[in-house]
Amino acid sequence: MFYTVPPQNGRRFIVTGANSGTGREAARRLALAGAEVVLAVRSLEKGEVAKAAILQEAPGAALDVRHLDLAALASVREFAAGVVADGRPVDVLVNNAGVMIPPRRFETADGFELQLGTNFIGPYVLTTLLLPVLLRTPGARVATMSSMVANFGTIDFDDLNWVSRRYSAMFAYAQSKLADLMLGRHLAEVAKEKGWDLLSTIAHPGYTRTNLQTAGRNLGRDASDQLPPVRRTIMPSQTPEIGAEPLLFAATSPDAKQGAYYGPSRLGVVGPTHEATIPRSGRSLDVAARLWDAAEELEFGVEDAGPFFHGTKVDLGVGDTLAPGFSSNFGEGKQANFVYLTGTLDAAIWGAELAQGDGPGRIYRVEPTGPIENDPNLTNVRFPGNATRSYRTREPLRVVDEVTDWKGHAPEVLQDMLDGIAKMAEQGVEAIND
Ligand SMILES: NC(=O)c1ccc[n+]([C@@H]2O[C@H](COP(=O)([O-])OP(=O)(O)OC[C@H]3O[C@@H](n4cnc5c(N)ncnc54)[C@H](OP(=O)(O)O)[C@@H]3O)[C@@H](O)[C@H]2O)c1
Repeated sequence: MFYTVPPQNGRRFIVTGANSGTGREAARRLALAGAEVVLAVRSLEKGEVAKAAILQEAPGAALDVRHLDLAALASVREFAAGVVADGRPVDVLVNNAGVMIPPRRFETADGFELQLGTNFIGPYVLTTLLLPVLLRTPGARVATMSSMVANFGTIDFDDLNWVSRRYSAMFAYAQSKLADLMLGRHLAEVAKEKGWDLLSTIAHPGYTRTNLQTAGRNLGRDASDQLPPVRRTIMPSQTPEIGAEPLLFAATSPDAKQGAYYGPSRLGVVGPTHEATIPRSGRSLDVAARLWDAAEELEFGVEDAGPFFHGTKVDLGVGDTLAPGFSSNFGEGKQANFVYLTGTLDAAIWGAELAQGDGPGRIYRVEPTGPIENDPNLTNVRFPGNATRSYRTREPLRVVDEVTDWKGHAPEVLQDMLDGIAKMAEQGVEAIND
């Protein structure tokens, strides 16, 4: 170990991915230095194991394991809401968690390419949601973990999500980690411009032996997909104890500077922490600012050009609008806050068949008149991704025409679905959480 964390008594940290690798080591060293640490983890079980291990070394440490899945914005929002509701300061947010080179193009619950979503969009949303709390805490910091691989990254604003390009696991990782570097740098610029008492720093761990090279590739399911030994040893590598130091320096050192990047000093891969050179790929502050805007659009927007459909039992004509505020088609007939639309005819058929009311189901081709968002009833925790391209909006939908040549589901299939919904209702689960 080369870096000693200065005393952190009375300071509260949030460390994402604190159950493994550099995050776990950071949480351990912070706890030993007297900090209170929120271990923000996607598996509470793994978080508790890490907590127990840290407590062995730091008995009495204030460790709080909380659920955070960066690959599901609903979870990020819930976690952030919990921290805000604590009504307590947060001195440092450590954006550490990440995934690396999954074997194929996976998507997060909100439909982002997995590495972009987990490594960048999730941390971006988390950071922005926690900003009000951080800004109320004197001398607060955000320390964000990037990677040397960011050197090879480029930000492709036309296809951040790897939809139209051929998917490359490595270049998607590189883009996401470059995005982390830019997140940290842009936040530093904003803090300077606005005179905020907030330091934004960035780190990378060189090449550190963690679960990343194994669990990362197969999404943590097992360890059978390890890198071959030769690839693990061809480059010098280091233990998490040393690998976590640039991040610990970025998060705690009084010498850390606004917008600076810290990494290992020997070949940039191992050894004591020094201030790293910002790679050419990450120098443009204009690109960093543009990326911040793009992230905001991705957070709230949906990349789907349609056509969109709406299934109902209501009789409508071309040019009519469907607006939120009328009683819902589903559930207990409560006032609906949203109107729902989908990019697939099949989902619209279900909508038409399951809508309340008498008469035949109708399917309209509709045009949103305002922003649309992923329908959380059919994404996030209930179903991964947004396979049915189901969305909702607070603005009216305009009817463009009616689709008449659709075929409903077989009666027994429909009955099965109705039985399933009735069973859910008996258990108190509403079909639509509006
Ligand atoms: N190790 C290196 O050489 C290296 C090099 C460059 C950059 N990095 C960066 O260092 C950071 C830490 O990685 P590591 O090397 O310590 O790897 P690790 O041991 O695999 O740790 C990664 C952590 O991120 C968590 N995580 C993954 N997906 C998540 C999600 N959706 N929501 C919340 N947490 C999630 C993991 O949780 P689970 O345990 O539940 O999977 C784990 O706690 C990452 O940002 C990585 O990109 C590492």
